[in-house]
Amino acid sequence: MGVLALNGGEPVVKSTLGKRWPIFGESEEKALLEVLHSGEWNCRDKVAEVGEAFAAYQDAKYAVPLANGTVALQCVLKAAGVNAGDEVIVPALTFVATATSVVLVNAVPVMVDIDPLTYNISPEAVEAAITPRTKAIIPVHNGGYPADMDAIMEIADRHGLRVIEDCAHAHGSQWRGKGVGSIGHLGTFSFQIGKTLTCGEGGMVLTNDQELAENAARFANLNMRMTNLQAALLLCQLERLDAQVETREQNTAHLVAGMKAIKGVDPIPRDDRVTRWCFYYWDFRYIPDEFEGVPRSRFLEALNAEGVPGGVGAHGQPIYQEGPFADMDFFDQLGSARKGSLYEEEIDYSKVYCPNAERVYAEEVCSLTHALFLGGVDDMEHILEAFHKIRNNTDELKQ
Ligand SMILES: Cc1ncc(COP(=O)(O)O)c(C=O)c1O
Repeated sequence: MGVLALNGGEPVVKSTLGKRWPIFGESEEKALLEVLHSGEWNCRDKVAEVGEAFAAYQDAKYAVPLANGTVALQCVLKAAGVNAGDEVIVPALTFVATATSVVLVNAVPVMVDIDPLTYNISPEAVEAAITPRTKAIIPVHNGGYPADMDAIMEIADRHGLRVIEDCAHAHGSQWRGKGVGSIGHLGTFSFQIGKTLTCGEGGMVLTNDQELAENAARFANLNMRMTNLQAALLLCQLERLDAQVETREQNTAHLVAGMKAIKGVDPIPRDDRVTRWCFYYWDFRYIPDEFEGVPRSRFLEALNAEGVPGGVGAHGQPIYQEGPFADMDFFDQLGSARKGSLYEEEIDYSKVYCPNAERVYAEEVCSLTHALFLGGVDDMEHILEAFHKIRNNTDELKQ
């Protein structure tokens, strides 16, 4: 199979894999020009239309379209009655906005470990972190793979807690046939440019509860609102979503089948209850022992050199090690609560230790972005060939 590209050999991939993101065409041009010429840039008609359409798509009754996914989280935390000093349980493995949003409403994020198989919040860890001050749980459907909503809803019901699904990565995903964002009490989405449904920036709240929807709409009016231009674009993008999901599904099925023959790179096992898996990034597990101990960073270097852009998801370290929580400046800037009953005195995130999240980030998780899966199955063949080539040349990696 030749010398690794990393060492000067010819790369497996000669052209770019997948498709350039975002994808748009005449429908987007027409829709945007229509709103532009109407002068109704901040009018509500397209906003209401996209809210209705997306709520129906995810099986929810009510939608509140918003400026982005971060304000959507703040909006639902307030709508759910989370007050200053309340505790909100979040996974250690997520984008930092899941937890900074909690701080922005002056509540306390309590970070818990992940399930080592799915990389989603561990229901056992959630249960262990509940205190009298806990108000809500935010499961994140990491990469788009639904968290165990059965277990989380059961725990929440037993303790009288609100469940807010952070669906920033999971447009279209379903858990037991139900769209994510419609299973918990509230759900939030992001339509930021990298996401699988995008209008550049944007967000949305979904719920089946009328009162929570009304609460959320009131907070949204404190100017978190989406514009008509965003909504017009989003409506066009929504039309494209099903076909894109189908292409990704076909491609991942091909990749998963091929990976069975390659030891050391394992797809995330799919739970039968994940009835639709729409992903923002597609994670797989790297097992160094199968590659003669070669660290994941070296494997990813080799993979990238072969022309397969692989990374470690959207993040890179557990959120308690990220700037806002590692040095607590963020809390000081906001004058936010620093006490929580889980911590004896002041909150100190340097004391948080989530072994699964730390190990997964440091050694194991590898991610491929969704746009790589929008081409043909020949692209999947290239990815498989790159895996084979690296595995057959482990000696070169050890040098
Ligand atoms: C898990 C998660 N939650 C929330 C957000 C925030 O969304 P936005 O960037 O639209 O504010 C993101 C953004 O990437 C995210 O990944």
